[in-house]
Amino acid sequence: MTGRRKLIAGNWKMNGLKAHLSEVSAIAKLAGARDDIDVALFLPATLIAAAAPLADGVLIGGQDCHQAQSGAYTGDISAAMLVEAGAGATLVGHSERRAYHGETSADVAAKAAFAHGAGLKVVLCVGETLETRELGDEEAQDWVVDQLLASLPEGADPDWLTIAYEPVWAIGTGKVATPPQIAAMHATLRAALVARLGEKGAAMRLLYGGSVSGDNAADILHLPDVDGALVGGASLSAAKFAPIIAAA
Ligand code: G3P
Repeated sequence: MTGRRKLIAGNWKMNGLKAHLSEVSAIAKLAGARDDIDVALFLPATLIAAAAPLADGVLIGGQDCHQAQSGAYTGDISAAMLVEAGAGATLVGHSERRAYHGETSADVAAKAAFAHGAGLKVVLCVGETLETRELGDEEAQDWVVDQLLASLPEGADPDWLTIAYEPVWAIGTGKVATPPQIAAMHATLRAALVARLGEKGAAMRLLYGGSVSGDNAADILHLPDVDGALVGGASLSAAKFAPIIAAA
């Protein structure tokens, strides 16, 4: 036993209209039947207020937040806005934010600290591109450790911070990292967290994300140092999410 409770989280990305709230209710029902794991859903900001009352037992989160309290940042959302809408958490540093919005690791660290200050739990994402992975497994591990350490906020603590390792080449591609690749990366990330944070690093949850499905979840979730999953496509429906929750 590691003492780290498993977290199965869904990231809906830019998917979901009010018509899909029935899936949130159905996922809440699945989560309600499990008191041994945590379940979270990172929803489009437009759905948070409507989803929060339906999602008893599911942590509802946003997918990003700005590192400022308020101001002239058209199109952005603040941590306080997420909290007011009913969110209890947020993602930061997803590779799609880093790639399409130019977010740096310093931005990600600032966002994580700001979100925590507003009272949100934070799932901080890291992961290498295919180009980096093709340099070799060890090179990829070194690269992700550097990205993780540069993205870690001040005061990082497992009470509010979780890390998600998501290889970019495995996101939405159906191409899952192999169990040995995942185990090796998670062991390396764990060692880096322990070296930086001591006992807090040992207690911090490390999720895997990238084409997780009902077919591969059990193999991934039982690896040492894998404390859960961050699931994209397969979290959009309760029917596809159910076997992943069951595998935890
Ligand atoms: O954040 C979850 C993610 O990027 C993985 O997406 O669709 O490959 O499960 P997917």
